[in-house]
Amino acid sequence: MKKILIVDDEEGMRIALNEALSRVGFKVVSCADGREAVTKLKNDTYAMVITDIKMPGLDGLGLLREVKKICPETPVVMITAYGTIDNAVEAMKDGACDYLLKPFSFENLIEIVKNGLAQAEMLFDNRTGDAVISGGNGNGSGKKATESRTIVTGDPEMLRLIDMARGVAASNSTVLIYGQSGTGKELIAHLIHNNSQRSNKAFVAVNCAAIPDNLLESELFGHEKGSFTGATFRKFGKFELAQGGTILLDEIGEMSMTLQAKLLRVLQEFEIDRIGGKEPVPIDVRVISTTNIDLKKAVQENKFREDLYYRLNVIPIKVPPLRERKGDVERLAKHFTALHAEKVGKEIKGIGSDAMKEIKSMRWPGNVRELQNTIERAVLLCRTDEIGTTDLILEESRGDVAAESSDFPTTTIEEMERKLIAKTLDVTNGNRTHAARSLGISIRTLRNKLKEYKERNLAVEGV
Ligand SMILES: Nc1ncnc2c1ncn2[C@@H]1O[C@H](COP(=O)(O)OP(=O)(O)OP(=O)(O)O)[C@@H](O)[C@H]1O
Ligand SMILES: [Mg+2]
Repeated sequence: MKKILIVDDEEGMRIALNEALSRVGFKVVSCADGREAVTKLKNDTYAMVITDIKMPGLDGLGLLREVKKICPETPVVMITAYGTIDNAVEAMKDGACDYLLKPFSFENLIEIVKNGLAQAEMLFDNRTGDAVISGGNGNGSGKKATESRTIVTGDPEMLRLIDMARGVAASNSTVLIYGQSGTGKELIAHLIHNNSQRSNKAFVAVNCAAIPDNLLESELFGHEKGSFTGATFRKFGKFELAQGGTILLDEIGEMSMTLQAKLLRVLQEFEIDRIGGKEPVPIDVRVISTTNIDLKKAVQENKFREDLYYRLNVIPIKVPPLRERKGDVERLAKHFTALHAEKVGKEIKGIGSDAMKEIKSMRWPGNVRELQNTIERAVLLCRTDEIGTTDLILEESRGDVAAESSDFPTTTIEEMERKLIAKTLDVTNGNRTHAARSLGISIRTLRNKLKEYKERNLAVEGV
């Protein structure tokens, strides 16, 4: 259970926060002033600190400075009233992760806490694993194979591409990463960030396909309080949160033409306009974008701005699909076996030769992500010390047998796909983002499919 430290001199506020956060499963410790908080922080670890700004004795800003000394990783959220909003902005510059403007709703609070924790986790992850293992046994780099964000490959094309990514990391040029879903585009983006001078600043990812267009603008550029209905508090956009660091615009091809024009302006002027803001805010952010569609074609079809395309495409990196790097299938399968066995605490020494043969014969349309999911499941199912053919659930990835064979009856493929989608949604409790991820398709594709089923009155639940 994650522990949150609440610091407020007002008893009512302490009780309210305690109540709200406990309700969603956090353990809450509270205290009435900054000094007491400092003592607590020295003796225990907290996932987050939420502090009032105005307090007698050591105030919120003073406490923030102490947190940065005692436990710099711990995210700090400031509570502020209208009168002290400038202090909150100061605090953000001093490293507070967000602020809560009084009065705030339960939803406001939870959103800010969750975002803050996610951001902190991301920053933490960024500091680990940028190693490239180019050998076969998964331990070649001297780092543990099970460390996150490790890129495992021995494929000459991938190695060349990784070299190139490292080479361009130092510059500020925009990078466009091409590749099918699940090929490792995000890993490459992290590699670039981690090898740049920006590595100790934020890496912020935005999935342009997962956020509805009308919200994406505020997500990217932020908004002022009252700038539109529902804008009950000021929000910093992802560009501002990435200040000094790197922003990853995932699935850039899904961005609307209107927003493309706004993004182009950002790249030309190095400043952003918050929605409802009076003047532009200067930004210093490295832009990396990814796409799984052919952007050049999108330009020809007038779906993507040509000028923006050239701005983004300064350095193109093409990540090959898994089926074009045959050697990596075995290497990655072994890597994921070790990774997931360790995660669940199972003693599994490897993959049996028949199982490996099957794995190698697959086409992996969902690429590395699909392979990883398959191995993760196999590890869970495995009852011996070796993954066998019965531990592999491969139907959905028999691309060579089903999806690509023209004389396979289409209705059956469709039905299979619908069942798989239904099953996955069931497992993710209806969470589409997670479902799309584990299916190795984009959220947009999933949404379209569900829409199509609905239009055709086909059941998705309980198939
Ligand atoms: N070469 C690799 N070595 C180890 N793990 C990898 C490698 N490539 C991908 N992965 C893992 O596979 C998963 C998918 O990778 P990633 O998210 O980078 O893909 P992506 O191309 O961004 O996918 P999408 O288009 O769906 O966003 C992640 O869990 C990642 O850690
Ligand atoms: Mg990605």
